[in-house]
Amino acid sequence: MTSASQVEALRVPRRRPHKLEKPLAAKRSPGYDMIPIVQADRQSLGKVMEHQTFGPPATARRGQSTCQRHAPIITIDGPAGTGKSTLALRLASYFGWRYIDSGAMYRAVALCAAERGIPWTDEPALVQLCAPLTFEFPFCGGQAAVHVDGRNVTQAIRSQAVGEGASLVATHPRLRAILVDKQRQLGCAGGIVMDGRDIGTVVFPEADVKFYLDATPEARGWRRWLELQERGERTTLAEVIDAIGRRDQEDRTRQASPLRVPKGACSIDTTNLSVDDVFELMVDKIKFFGVSFRTLDPGQGTRCPQST
Ligand code: DC
Repeated sequence: MTSASQVEALRVPRRRPHKLEKPLAAKRSPGYDMIPIVQADRQSLGKVMEHQTFGPPATARRGQSTCQRHAPIITIDGPAGTGKSTLALRLASYFGWRYIDSGAMYRAVALCAAERGIPWTDEPALVQLCAPLTFEFPFCGGQAAVHVDGRNVTQAIRSQAVGEGASLVATHPRLRAILVDKQRQLGCAGGIVMDGRDIGTVVFPEADVKFYLDATPEARGWRRWLELQERGERTTLAEVIDAIGRRDQEDRTRQASPLRVPKGACSIDTTNLSVDDVFELMVDKIKFFGVSFRTLDPGQGTRCPQST
């Protein structure tokens, strides 16, 4: 049991918001007022604070799932190239949670469709393809991997072409409904950081902490271009900025779950911030919200299964 003095010693001082943060929109829910702020430093990893409580996941409230939440849900939304996946993976490693890359699911569907000759515009065929697919996100050698039906597609889904396919695939409401359901199943027990475009708005609107990352198209294009260069894809910076503009337009204007800032999210403009700066802001915010943590049971989501 944690004594009152131990809890007091762990209290994180309130800090002034960073100048690049939008004013804190979220109000602490009444439940949170009961929870002491806990210093989530590396030494304390593995402890489960006994005073910690979590609200019921939205899915459980709607009667869609009987899944019990045992640990926090953190969501990160925002357009392409804002560093969501890098930061989500870092947060997950730091707190001992799992990282679930929802964009990878749309990419994997686009890849599987292309392999089977299904056009990215054919919603009924995509729905049929997607419904039985299983997704896993194991950590392999410190990296987040993506497995679909046991096959390692981590590299294959990262090409520019598959990215554009994913953007088209993501416009189909029935396909989205299937993936949203799978995302809820993957994350409803908590202890996850999930990133995407609709995670704080649709998938887990009642997540413990919601982030929205943004940056200018130029900054995002530059980051994406560097990534593509590292993977040996030969494109010009102008082409990548152009592609980012098209994807932004698709993601923000589509009918089904367009990209929006989730209600109560902490918005961070990452244009002039390093990954380390943003990471610190996010860790601070998670502590500010009094979110405690628990590590996963050994092997849960952390194994690196044999890829086929
Ligand atoms: O984040 P990403 O580039 O890997 O995402 C690929 C595409 O999937 C992107 O165009 C937007 C879409 N997407 C989505 O619509 N909803 C999500 N939750 C995640 C991604």
